[in-house]
Amino acid sequence: MPILCYEITGSASPNPRSTTGAEDGQLSAVLKADHEAATAQVYSELVANRLAMFLGIPVVVGVPARAATDERLRFAALRAAEASLNVYDFTDDDHADPDADEYAEVALPEGMHTQSGHAYAIKSLCEKYPLETAQIAVFDLWIGNEDRALNFKAELSSQDRGVIFALDQGSSLLACRRGIEESLACLERADQPTFHPFQKLVNARYCGAMVERIMSMPDWAILSATTYDDTVGNVMLHEQFATYEVLLRRKKMLGDLVDRVLL
Ligand SMILES: Nc1ncnc2c1ncn2[C@@H]1O[C@H](COP(=O)(O)OP(=O)(O)O)[C@@H](O)[C@H]1O
Ligand SMILES: [Mg+2]
Repeated sequence: MPILCYEITGSASPNPRSTTGAEDGQLSAVLKADHEAATAQVYSELVANRLAMFLGIPVVVGVPARAATDERLRFAALRAAEASLNVYDFTDDDHADPDADEYAEVALPEGMHTQSGHAYAIKSLCEKYPLETAQIAVFDLWIGNEDRALNFKAELSSQDRGVIFALDQGSSLLACRRGIEESLACLERADQPTFHPFQKLVNARYCGAMVERIMSMPDWAILSATTYDDTVGNVMLHEQFATYEVLLRRKKMLGDLVDRVLL
């Protein structure tokens, strides 16, 4: 896949100590904080991001962030540089008319999740990016993310290569429900999540390979992504360890979840 670049904003100035011409500059980011509807949003975004980076899942990179004048910890999702790409915006509300003539010839598979819109575009997306959509879907089941609809973008029109990227894991892990306790209880359940926008559209072999990849992820890598020496936003240490442990248990449920939800 072509490399996904992030957006440099404003002008840069020479870095005075650099011996190789480095410049001081700025990147654009979407800044997210803990919220009453997702009390552990920052922690969940951060952990999901680190797990995704380890596994090679195409999600936008994000980092912990704090303003000099503000104690609040945020999650800064680096903004993709979309200006030079022809991106289909799956994050926009779907205004298409599903009865339009252009769709008359296209059959959607039975059991597909159509309630969140963009159904025909999602079908072409899964055809164009079979590997990446399978990877994202299996990952979402592992981290308890029921909020993938409207949270990804991709180049659809180009014939050959293009980019696809997922964003917003802020309703997964300890933020898959409003509160942390509720979220942990939800993650313990083998019947959660119950749906995914790519269900019935992904390739079984690619899903199986992704289940294998997650199952073989070393415990130390999951531990280092989930636990920190300090609270992260609203999330205390014992809750971070609980996340680590539930992710190990969810690895074992993953094959059955994929069979039930995606295939
Ligand atoms: N890293 C990013 N690159 C490009 N667009 C982004 C990025 N992060 C967020 N967006 C845009 O901003 C919108 C809101 O961000 P999101 O993280 O989804 O917030 P929320 O959790 O409130 O849904 C997204 O639907 C998307 O259109
Ligand atoms: Mg969103």
